[in-house]
Amino acid sequence: MEFVGSHILSVDQFDRSDIEQIFAVADDMQPYAHRTRITRVLQGAILSNMFFESSTRTRVSFGCAFNLLGGEVRETTEIKSSAIAKGESLHDMARVLSGYSDVIVMRHPAEGSVKEFAEASRVPVINGGDGSNEHPTQALLDLYTIRKELEDRGDAIDGLRIAVVGDLRYGRAVHSLLKLLALFDNISVNLVSPPDLTAPLDSVRDLENKGHRVETFQNLEDGVNHVDILYVTRTQEERFPSQEEADRYRGLFRINQTIYTEHCEPNTVIMHPLPRDSRAAAQELDDDLNANPNLAIFRQTDNGVLIRMALFSLILDVADGVHDHAQPVTWFTARRTPRTLG
Ligand code: NCD
Repeated sequence: MEFVGSHILSVDQFDRSDIEQIFAVADDMQPYAHRTRITRVLQGAILSNMFFESSTRTRVSFGCAFNLLGGEVRETTEIKSSAIAKGESLHDMARVLSGYSDVIVMRHPAEGSVKEFAEASRVPVINGGDGSNEHPTQALLDLYTIRKELEDRGDAIDGLRIAVVGDLRYGRAVHSLLKLLALFDNISVNLVSPPDLTAPLDSVRDLENKGHRVETFQNLEDGVNHVDILYVTRTQEERFPSQEEADRYRGLFRINQTIYTEHCEPNTVIMHPLPRDSRAAAQELDDDLNANPNLAIFRQTDNGVLIRMALFSLILDVADGVHDHAQPVTWFTARRTPRTLG
């Protein structure tokens, strides 16, 4: 695809060479994301970061990614503090914000809303998650993490064995990830969920039509055997018709160190788009896995900054100029071990 000036709304836009291009630029971003060098390649550019649903890492990492390239970030974080609460349409908001900014990231609870917004925007729009539909940048950072974790063991994405566990019906990160995986060769997917929370039929058919192996499980222990990656998700309780219904699924699938030791291969990588639900009744990914070196959840979040920097620089056409006039960092950085307080 042509990245310059494009919206990023769905992973359907990408082919394998686009993904390779994004990953190559993301690799290049490491010294800036790790704060060993500074680049100002987006100096003067403004990002409107519009999050009309709860978010910590997606919102902050988009903002950090833009700042790390030298740009400025303006943010709105709730429907009630935006003019949507006064009845403003997505069309009008898009026309207004595209007069103020060079690129816009939007998260919104309604499926298709970010596309509708993008159609009226005069600047590129990136989908930060639209209802239970898609979350393209999460899927890219997940795939980038999978690639890195496998590369460290001498393996590639082709031939991957993955178990995807939890709420596969409403989980937009899973929807986008399954579509991206379908672009590779010889993937084997275990879909592990309660019967009412299975993955969309379209995604399953797409994988099967492309020759991948898909198996569905309702039993956690059976589904997590013989996989390279265990991708666990939260019950998306905000998408259920009622809290009572969401509560029925809470805590059904819990991965802890005992389950991992007894049922997974010894070096299975554990991933989760986060946030994990750490409340006692949920714990789909138990805190007792925190010391497990195969727990890659915080490597995923770090990789999110690289992927988002790569997308901004491709869309705004500065990917080739990132290293020009880059400078070393002279101040104390968070990447050095902080002194103990007191
Ligand atoms: C995910 C999302 O918002 O879809 N979170 C994220 O962006 N990392 C997954 C979730 O909320 O469970």
